Amino acid sequence: MAADKFKKEIEKRRTFAIISHPDAGKTTLTEKFLLYGGAINLAGSVKGKATARHAVSDWMEIEKERGISVTSSVLQFNYGGFCINILDTPGHQDFSEDTYRTLMAADSAVMVIDAAKGVEPQTRKLFKVCAMRKIPIFTFMNKLDRDARDPFELLDDIENELGIPTCPMNWPIGSGRDFKGVYDRQRELIVLYSDTQKGTKEGHTEEIPLDDKDKLLKALGQDSFDKLMEDVELLDGAGSTFDQDEVDAGMLSPVFFGSALTNFGVELFLQNFLKMTSSPLARNSETGLVDPVSNEFSAFVFKIQANMNKAHRDRIAFMRICSGKFDAGMEVLHVQGEKVLRLSQPQQMMASERHIVEEAYAGDIIGVFDPGIFSIGDTVCAPNVRFVYEGIPTFAPEHFARVRQVDTMKRKQFVKGITQIAQEGAIQIFREFNTGLEEIIVGVVGVLQFEVLKYRLENEYNVEIRMDNLPYEHIRWIANKDIDLDKLTGTSDMKKVRDLKDRPLLLFINSWSIGMTLERNEGLELEEFSKN
Ligand code: G4P
Repeated sequence: MAADKFKKEIEKRRTFAIISHPDAGKTTLTEKFLLYGGAINLAGSVKGKATARHAVSDWMEIEKERGISVTSSVLQFNYGGFCINILDTPGHQDFSEDTYRTLMAADSAVMVIDAAKGVEPQTRKLFKVCAMRKIPIFTFMNKLDRDARDPFELLDDIENELGIPTCPMNWPIGSGRDFKGVYDRQRELIVLYSDTQKGTKEGHTEEIPLDDKDKLLKALGQDSFDKLMEDVELLDGAGSTFDQDEVDAGMLSPVFFGSALTNFGVELFLQNFLKMTSSPLARNSETGLVDPVSNEFSAFVFKIQANMNKAHRDRIAFMRICSGKFDAGMEVLHVQGEKVLRLSQPQQMMASERHIVEEAYAGDIIGVFDPGIFSIGDTVCAPNVRFVYEGIPTFAPEHFARVRQVDTMKRKQFVKGITQIAQEGAIQIFREFNTGLEEIIVGVVGVLQFEVLKYRLENEYNVEIRMDNLPYEHIRWIANKDIDLDKLTGTSDMKKVRDLKDRPLLLFINSWSIGMTLERNEGLELEEFSKN
């Protein structure tokens, strides 16, 4: 393939995640994006609360039952010459670990905020991960068609709560019943609000230049007009000025106001966002940065999902391609497994359907059939290059329970099921030091994951389990190599365990015990999370 075309394919890629607190409008915004890309016909039709809610991205039955999105999904569509990959992240606080990992595969993030509420707890958590990765963060201030908080206050909220300066790219004129539209600061014109566009993209928008005062006054009415003029003056002093370098470095968040539900300000946002984000970024490996346009194929596994299709009992490993081009049928090296193999049934999600991919480029996400060989964080690359991408951190679980199967005859299924679910990263499993898998301790980041575990073991593996909560709240991996765990003296409430990869670690009920244990064992090094 001509080098030029290859480069162009990568340059038109935009891979981002959408983050928000539940109910801020992430799903609605995603659906409107898909609508612009022509991936679905009528955005509103893919979602109808109880039955088909989240129909575009939901796979698991539990999601349908509960009406929440448990797993992150990936959608690809084309718009305006760009090839867009959206990583959907579940907003529910109990699924944060999966969400964190998904953010590792994104080059930028769109943060959706409910303008009536401002920054909420889940936004804060997710933002932290984005900030850790220093990726660009764009803000969509949603639901202006409803009564909203004062826009200046909302910007202050982001700056104070999240610690990132903001730059309003447009500015709302009123909200709720009095919502009149937005002022586009770059083009210096007013885009009038009309909710006739609800669910479709055909709506007609009227634009009035800021200096056409007569026309503006007529369109807005005296009160809104006066308020706008006042705001425009104040605006120059509010927020920071736009600086692309700062946006790139994740140190300035451009803010757009709009209403996803009535499809107002969405296309404007999408167009500007695409201009301000970059094509796939170089990624850090243990041997330095890997350039996406370098010709060799490489990718890393950021998510594993079993039993997406009950009929097939399949297990899919999701990979983010970081460099080069993937061709179906090509041979690749699975670095951690030290094996050259062909990726089987590579697929991508296109709106509601999965389809087999023939080729994919840096920035794209592909799902491949996984016969049980991949782990989260693994690197796959062209056989003639060998390197490992930086690991994805394992987040410390905060809740623990001892888990047993009710029917002892089902031991085998139980161990198989719980191990597979742990390999996916949905839960972490530990066994007590000096024992086998008779007793399994499960650690999760959010308690709802316990329920997911129970549900999945019953439905996918036909195993009923009993869970007893354990009082541990702190977990520490032992960093010292060659430690003799038998000789380690801790506190009476401390538990010595091993994880799935046989790494030794300690569970504690309180932080005081951690201090005591460190004091009693000179040279002991404890880590709060472990790199893969
Ligand atoms: P999420 O994925 O972030 O959890 O939020 P989602 O898009 O599901 O939106 C949550 C609720 O907020 C939905 O209402 C949705 O219709 C509504 N919503 C989203 N964007 C806007 C907006 O711009 N304006 C207004 N007024 N509402 C918005 P719901 O009643 O929970 O569901 P539904 O019955 O509308 O489907």
